[in-house]
Amino acid sequence: SGIRVDVVTIFPEYFAPLELSLIGKARTTGVLDLHLHDLRGWTHDVHRTVDDTPYGGGPGMVMRPEPWGQALDELVPRGTPARLVVPTPAGAPFTQATAYELAAEPHLVFACGRYEGIDQRVLDHAAERMPVSEVSLGDYVLFGGEVAVLVMLEAITRLIPGVLGNADSLADESHAHGLLETPVYTKPQSWRGHDVPDILRSGDHGKIARWRRDQALLRTAARRPDLLAALDPATLDKRDLAL
Ligand code: ADE
Repeated sequence: SGIRVDVVTIFPEYFAPLELSLIGKARTTGVLDLHLHDLRGWTHDVHRTVDDTPYGGGPGMVMRPEPWGQALDELVPRGTPARLVVPTPAGAPFTQATAYELAAEPHLVFACGRYEGIDQRVLDHAAERMPVSEVSLGDYVLFGGEVAVLVMLEAITRLIPGVLGNADSLADESHAHGLLETPVYTKPQSWRGHDVPDILRSGDHGKIARWRRDQALLRTAARRPDLLAALDPATLDKRDLAL
């Protein structure tokens, strides 16, 4: 196992948190072989220019293709397998399924756009020799792709075998079964007038599993009716349908 990741950005400083916590550990143990690159390293003018005005007019600036082309030539040698991932609000939705697919790749190259985006020819040319995924975190607009890459890398890294201690925590979590996770409780049993639900202290594991399933269904119905509608009815049991 293990995955090679290259990130190209004009703000490598954004990625300082990748030294920390479980991502940092994945890097030191070698399951995540992560390399950050300053796009301006592939410019050749004194001002290290990466952007220019858009053809056709309009606001803002567009990233010029030449530095990106050189970066991709160098980071993805001919004939080596890699996928280019470009975060953009115009992309396909990034979901847990996307995270699983990307975690199974041997080599990912993330291209962080700024301003109004990267000249489309960079992606069209790259697509002639590698798969290209334009992905969106959601229906809102960030300043650039950097924070989106941090989010995606965290979602991907925890799916690499050996990174999470307990495989059960992957199997049970939100979105694994198409339902939201249940509320959780720990000690003390009573806190500021709020008690832990009795059933969780009953020791009846059948009843506890049933209660958790009901809570997940109720929560999902209230907060994410879209997820409930998308569930395969074959995965619902009689008690679910009685709810
Ligand atoms: N870049 C800017 N906004 C974004 C978003 N919502 N998702 C992914 N990349 C982005």
